[in-house]
Amino acid sequence: MTETPGGNAHDTDADRRTREWAVAADGARWSLADAFDAPGTYMEGNSLGPVSDAAAEAVEALLAEWRELGVAGWSESDWFDYGERLGSRVAPMVGAREDEVVLANSTTVNLHTLVGTFLRESSGSKVLVNELDFPSDHYAVRARLRERGLDPEADLVQVASRDGRTIDAADVAAALDAHPEVGVVLMPSVLYRSGQLLDVAAIAEAAHEHDAVVGFDCAHSVGVVPHELADHGVDFAVWCSYKYLNGGPGAVAGLYVHRRHHGTMPSLSGWWGHEKATQFEMNERFTPAADAGAWQIGTPPLLAMAPLRGVLDLLDERGVTVADLRERSLALTDYLFELADARLPETEVATPRAPAERGGHVALAHPEAYGVSEALAERDVVVDYRPPDVVRLCPGPTHVGFADCWDAVDAIREVLDTGAHEAYGEPGGGVT
Ligand SMILES: Cc1ncc(COP(=O)(O)O)c(C=O)c1O
Repeated sequence: MTETPGGNAHDTDADRRTREWAVAADGARWSLADAFDAPGTYMEGNSLGPVSDAAAEAVEALLAEWRELGVAGWSESDWFDYGERLGSRVAPMVGAREDEVVLANSTTVNLHTLVGTFLRESSGSKVLVNELDFPSDHYAVRARLRERGLDPEADLVQVASRDGRTIDAADVAAALDAHPEVGVVLMPSVLYRSGQLLDVAAIAEAAHEHDAVVGFDCAHSVGVVPHELADHGVDFAVWCSYKYLNGGPGAVAGLYVHRRHHGTMPSLSGWWGHEKATQFEMNERFTPAADAGAWQIGTPPLLAMAPLRGVLDLLDERGVTVADLRERSLALTDYLFELADARLPETEVATPRAPAERGGHVALAHPEAYGVSEALAERDVVVDYRPPDVVRLCPGPTHVGFADCWDAVDAIREVLDTGAHEAYGEPGGGVT
């Protein structure tokens, strides 16, 4: 189903850098080309993926069931184990067994319950993270450390970055050597700013050699980078469904827990994580479900889950796997590298180039990145700014084409040529 990129082997570099080439490349069949509706030139799939008819229809179908069945939907439809069902469908994308994945809660809540669980279970008292992590991860870890009477200033150990953009797996191993009290390692699969893909297998191995539990924040990789979480022995993982999975704003998140930990008491227990067969006995004591479903907490918000179901149906219908999405993503990010090198010498590509070291987005560094991103927004090119100096361009492989990449780079060229970015002041707040 994937036939990217287009063009042919005789195309010269100059050919590839024309919009005509990009349009022709998009002419090659991509089976999801008509499936998503995104505003403008939408390079934000790593922040919020776009809507699809498939997602909207799945919501409509759920609303119709609600209309028809009311509360009986919990027993007469498949609502009761909605999170487990979705989990078993996402499991192959992350290389997990069906009972190791559930869709539940938000990513941050999942960090709280999983870090809390494994900090309690672990013999160590420190958590190893890195200084380039998404802030919510550190907020959650600090809260869990405080909860256990530990001191976040001393017990949150951070791997430093050598270049301010990437994390070296050797430095993770060195930090483990230097801090034998580390009981939990929490690392991102892909760094949210630079887009570096970390070596999940190597970090998991190093953590286990030091008797630490290892978890990954896969928010920036699920749906665009295939994983082998179970084979690599990763203990737990969390991710968002609203990025590459296109599950909609605030979509319910995903979590993975390796089978060897099933049956462990979750740190945030709630009745939806109870053993299913006896959940409605309303027992006084909590019996955790025998699978990853135990880390659910309360009633699943189905309206924030149905869009993902629609998207997964769409991927199945069109025969698109995460390997296909990765292949297309690499072709699109390669094209962005090529265009940026040729046309944007004022910017620095801040994303590692090797396929094994990059996720699904390209970070371009420029001292006035904020102004550039604002000027692009005025031109309907949707990117985002991440302090201090990065514009992130995400060619989400489900919906972005080669011509979109060309248009985004061309718009940046025009902004820099005209100085349009200089009209913006300092970065303010707000979500982009
Ligand atoms: C890497 C990473 N971790 C965690 C989060 C937080 O996710 P949520 O706000 O859905 O809890 C995000 C959100 O963008 C993220 O990018």
